[in-house]
Amino acid sequence: MIVAIDGPAGAGKSTVARTLATRLGFRYLDTGAMYRALTQLALEKGVSLEDGAALGDLARREPVSFEGDRVFIRDEDVTEAIRLPRIDRVVSSVARHLEVREVMRERQRELGSYGDAVIEGRDIGTVVCPDADVKVYLVADAAERARRRKADRPEIGEQALATDLRLRDERDAAQMQPAPDAQEIDTTELSIEQVVDRIEQLVLARSA
Ligand code: DC
Repeated sequence: MIVAIDGPAGAGKSTVARTLATRLGFRYLDTGAMYRALTQLALEKGVSLEDGAALGDLARREPVSFEGDRVFIRDEDVTEAIRLPRIDRVVSSVARHLEVREVMRERQRELGSYGDAVIEGRDIGTVVCPDADVKVYLVADAAERARRRKADRPEIGEQALATDLRLRDERDAAQMQPAPDAQEIDTTELSIEQVVDRIEQLVLARSA
């Protein structure tokens, strides 16, 4: 079974998807981490973030891999590096290139094909796994999303985080359409456990 969890940054996808995967005993795939790792490598190698063809080539040559919670590219553990604000601010520029998306989507389908999985991203229910058994689109109001980000990025002011999120939403808009058959859940007033419970109910209903 594939559970697709999409939605904007700060809506709670990662925590919810990870917790749900543990609860169900499913594998967890964070597709945002793949775009982040490619961005990190491109910056390191001085590849222009405007050059879709070069970035697509880089993505093909240097696949992102996962070991438990750790993220690797080119055998380098980039788990912490890819969560830094310098990546937050430019990752959308990398993710918007079709050449990059093609490589990533192929790899995401492959990683998702090994059995039960919870896959989180922006286009999982629409493009990567349009036949996913359960599709969820998480949303939350802008102030709450900035507040949650603050917990992960304490060094940045809430106002600056809110602006970064808004800019990222604008840049990610092309990838951020909910699938027509996705269940939208507004997480603004819900705890992680409540969101996970709701999705688990959808999974159980689907299994039945
Ligand atoms: O979920 P995240 O913040 O870690 O994602 C990082 C960026 O990657 C985000 O700005 C949009 C992009 N992304 C995407 O375009 N498609 C996905 N399936 C996942 C992430």
